[in-house]
Amino acid sequence: MTLSDRLGRPLRDLRISVTDRCNFRCVYCMPREVFGPGYAFLKRDELLTYEEITRVARVLVELGVEKIRITGGEPLVRRDLHELVARLRVIPGLRDLTLTTNGSLLAQQAKRLAEAGLQRVTVSLDSLDDAVFRAMNDVGVGVETVLEGISAAGEAGLWPIKVNAVVKRGVNDHTVVDLARYFKGTGIIVRFIEFMDVGATNGWKLEHVVTGREIVEMIDREMPLEPAEANYRGEVAQRWRYRDGSGEIGVITSISQPFCGDCTRLRLSPEGELFTCLFGAKGHDIRGLLRGGASDEELRERIAAVWRAREDRYSELRTAETAGLPKVEMSHIGG
Ligand code: GTP
Ligand code: 5AD
Ligand code: SF4
Ligand code: SF4
Repeated sequence: MTLSDRLGRPLRDLRISVTDRCNFRCVYCMPREVFGPGYAFLKRDELLTYEEITRVARVLVELGVEKIRITGGEPLVRRDLHELVARLRVIPGLRDLTLTTNGSLLAQQAKRLAEAGLQRVTVSLDSLDDAVFRAMNDVGVGVETVLEGISAAGEAGLWPIKVNAVVKRGVNDHTVVDLARYFKGTGIIVRFIEFMDVGATNGWKLEHVVTGREIVEMIDREMPLEPAEANYRGEVAQRWRYRDGSGEIGVITSISQPFCGDCTRLRLSPEGELFTCLFGAKGHDIRGLLRGGASDEELRERIAAVWRAREDRYSELRTAETAGLPKVEMSHIGG
């Protein structure tokens, strides 16, 4: 029996955020004014242990999850992340195990992550223009560091590698075509993400959004593109292929063309709450059950009930008003 939510959507993907901390302060995600020295990050004993995360993941795979993505914050700032990878890797029935990272610590860790069983990675890189990139991450990390991380991932066999770039109007939209050109023909797939109204601290406004359509048009003018079929139902990115056969790009159009109808994703927060939507205000606590001695059966029942009751479709219902509502921060739940 397939577990379905109220809108008939099955549970297929689990995104595990392992920390709410990050070594970047991207202006669209963790603005310095908010995430400064006084910010109350989660304390160590509040975080789920790797053992606890693995237990939840195992139950979720039994309930239909096929793909797990590890996120953060920045997942590579959590100590010995490869140990979590090794535990998740051996869950029977799991088909895809991957990670989203800002790439700054990847050069040091790619090899041991691959050896632990990580299959592939997605690296965030918003621009190849060093000044633009430094201004966006706001901690002075240069493009070169991330490119070194990407090469190390390639050498470690973490393919296919994807690069995620958030596009914000007036900030990095003039560097979109260069980013596409740089990775064209390398096998690395760049996906451009519309700036979203996640969280409540990033000052989102509709006029900051560059739509996927505009992005495709910019690139197509210099390097002709044609649409490509989705790899699987519910794929987040819309695929576009270069007409000369040298690869593809993607656009993630949560604002201009929402994709809630096929949303099969469940998110686990670092302190053990389940979120049924990226734009959720409140999670469902699981840590209490884990630490209160619940059996696997009890865990399964609780999680299945959360999914069955799910009716989220935030992006389809988005209005000027909803953008200002309280929501979980992107850096907490991992995109
Ligand atoms: P593949 O597994 O490689 O197809 O990637 P993916 O699209 O699942 O992964 P990724 O984490 O790279 O997603 C890219 C970005 O899309 C995320 O960082 C988010 O910004 C956005 N995104 C992912 N899932 C959702 C979702 O359910 N809703 C919305 N609105 N945005 C999402
Ligand atoms: N809108 C779109 N994408 C975002 N990300 C972080 N904040 C936002 C936002 N407001 C991206 C990151 C990373 C991924 C996890 O989500 O840059 O690529
Ligand atoms: Fe930037 Fe990702 Fe860190 Fe947010 S979590 S500040 S998007 S690197
Ligand atoms: Fe899924 Fe919520 Fe994103 Fe819609 S807005 S695709 S329901 S996570």
